[in-house]
Amino acid sequence: MKLRGMVAVVTGGGRGIGRAICLAYAEEGADLVVASDVAAENAAVAAEVGSLGREALPYAVDVSVESQVNEMAEAALSRFGKVDILVSNAGINRRGLLIHSDSDDWKKTVEVMVYGTYHCCKAFVPGMVERDNGRVIVMSSIMGKQANPANSSYAASKHALIGITRTLAAEVAMMGARGVTVNAICPGIANTEMVTGSEGTIARLSEMLGMSREEVWEQLLKKMSLQERLIEPEEIAAMAVYLASREARGITGQAINVCGGANMC
Ligand SMILES: NC(=O)c1ccc[n+]([C@@H]2O[C@H](COP(=O)([O-])OP(=O)(O)OC[C@H]3O[C@@H](n4cnc5c(N)ncnc54)[C@H](O)[C@@H]3O)[C@@H](O)[C@H]2O)c1
Repeated sequence: MKLRGMVAVVTGGGRGIGRAICLAYAEEGADLVVASDVAAENAAVAAEVGSLGREALPYAVDVSVESQVNEMAEAALSRFGKVDILVSNAGINRRGLLIHSDSDDWKKTVEVMVYGTYHCCKAFVPGMVERDNGRVIVMSSIMGKQANPANSSYAASKHALIGITRTLAAEVAMMGARGVTVNAICPGIANTEMVTGSEGTIARLSEMLGMSREEVWEQLLKKMSLQERLIEPEEIAAMAVYLASREARGITGQAINVCGGANMC
C-alpha cells in the first residue's frame, strides 16, 4: 500500500474525479476527508471508503468561503490529528462566450476554483511545512495550457491554478520544506457529470451551437484527443496516487497532463 497511515482531504470528493481519487487513496491505505458542497454525495463516498476498510469524514463545504475551509481544516485535525495530502479538486464549468457572459457567473468560477484552492492551501499547507512532509495536488486541466471558445472563466481559472502550483512549490522549498511537493494534474476531457451530465459540456455546447450531442462529441470534442476518447476518472486518480506517494518525492512544481495526447505542453 502506497499511502498507508496517511490522511487526505479531497475537495469535490463527492463525485466524478474526486470520488475516484478518494476510493483509490482508500485502497492504498489512506483515511479521507470527503469534502464538497453536496452533503449526500460526500456521505455516499464516505460509506464507500468505509467499506474499503478506511475511515472517512464526510464534510459539507463551499470552498469559495474561507471561513468554511478553515472550519473544515479544524474538523479534519480534530478527527485525524494531521493532514498529509490535500487534493484541491472542486470545480465548476460555466460555458458561454466571454462578451455575452454574466459577470457574477464568471466570477463564481474563479471564486470556486482559484480562491477555493487558495483557501485550502492556506488552511492545510502550514501544517505540512511544519512537519516537512506533505503533498498538494491541484486539479487544473489542459485548459490551463490552452483554450477554446465559450470557456473563458474556466480557462482563466485553470491557467491561474498552474501559477499557484508553481509559486507554492517554490515557496515551500524556499521555507526549507523539501518534503512538501506541490503539483497540478491537467486532465483532458473526462467522463464525468461535468462533461456528460444533463448540464455538462456536451449538453451546453449542443444547446449553444444547435448541434446534437452526438455531433458535438464526433465533430468537436472527440478530435481533441489523439486517442479519440474520454479519460476515465480512475486514470486521473492513478496519477493522484502516484503524486501522493513516496516515489514521487522528487516531482514538484509540475503540471502533468492525463489527456490522451490532447495537449503536449
Ligand atoms: N471532467 C473533465 O473533463 C475535467 C477535465 C479537466 C479538469 N477537470 C477538473 O476536475 C475537477 C473535478 O471535476 P469533475 O469532472 O469530477 O466534475 P464534477 O462536476 O463531477 O465534480 C465537481 C465536484 O466539485 C464539487 N464542487 C463544486 N463547487 C464546489 C464548491 N463551491 N465547494 C465545494 N465543492 C464544490 C461538486 O460538488 C463535485 O463534487 C474540477 O476541478 C474540474 O474542473 C475536469
